[in-house]
Amino acid sequence: MSTPAYNIDGFYFRSGPNIQINLVSAKEILPLRHHVLRPNRPLESADFLGDDDPSTSHFAAYDTEGNLVACATLLDKPFIINPDIPTTKDFQEFHPELLSTIGMRARQLRGMAVHPDHHKKGIGSLLLNYIETHQSIPMQTTDLWCNARTHAASFYQNHGWITVTPPFDIPNVGPHVQMYRKIRQY
Ligand SMILES: CC(C)(COP(=O)(O)OP(=O)(O)OC[C@H]1O[C@@H](n2cnc3c(N)ncnc32)[C@H](O)[C@@H]1OP(=O)(O)O)[C@@H](O)C(=O)NCCC(=O)NCCS
Repeated sequence: MSTPAYNIDGFYFRSGPNIQINLVSAKEILPLRHHVLRPNRPLESADFLGDDDPSTSHFAAYDTEGNLVACATLLDKPFIINPDIPTTKDFQEFHPELLSTIGMRARQLRGMAVHPDHHKKGIGSLLLNYIETHQSIPMQTTDLWCNARTHAASFYQNHGWITVTPPFDIPNVGPHVQMYRKIRQY
């Protein structure tokens, strides 16, 4: 059963959770990022290099009672492929145009986290769609990339992200795949 239509910043959606998304400081989202992505580790482990850069954007999603339910961060970071990790057949064969984007200006999506009490309600999708649509403000539009936890890769794939590499390990965090989201036209 779908929930009523809602409006974010002038964009109307037919159905989905009633969520408000704001641009905030790193400090605002740190506790949720820590709780979801770095549990059982010190709070500082949830600090990301570049969190306080002026080019970094932090997105916070709030429910109708003002509770912070999801967050994500965009860092201004070029798309680079680790030469030690082979790229997937999908990336090489079906998206050859993206090879030309390697090294170009792009943004890295990091710290995508929905509070465990609110998984599978469409909040992650809403936040991701919002970021993809609004990431160009106030800067120029770029493509996006991320290192996705392998268990979350299908979530991104369902939103048009392409898997660039097979799984590789990020120490103390676990297996990831690099993913790419084409936003610009080529
Ligand atoms: C990955 C993550 C961000 C997804 O957020 P989410 O809010 O659960 O995502 P959504 O609800 O939009 O979609 C998740 C699934 O629920 C389904 N769903 C959405 N609304 C639903 C509803 N009302 N009822 C049932 N299922 C629903 C979606 O179809 C989707 O299915 P899929 O996984 O097959 O694509 C979230 O699970 C999370 O924070 N996980 C822990 C941290 C993490 O791994 N972060 C990613 C780091 S790379």
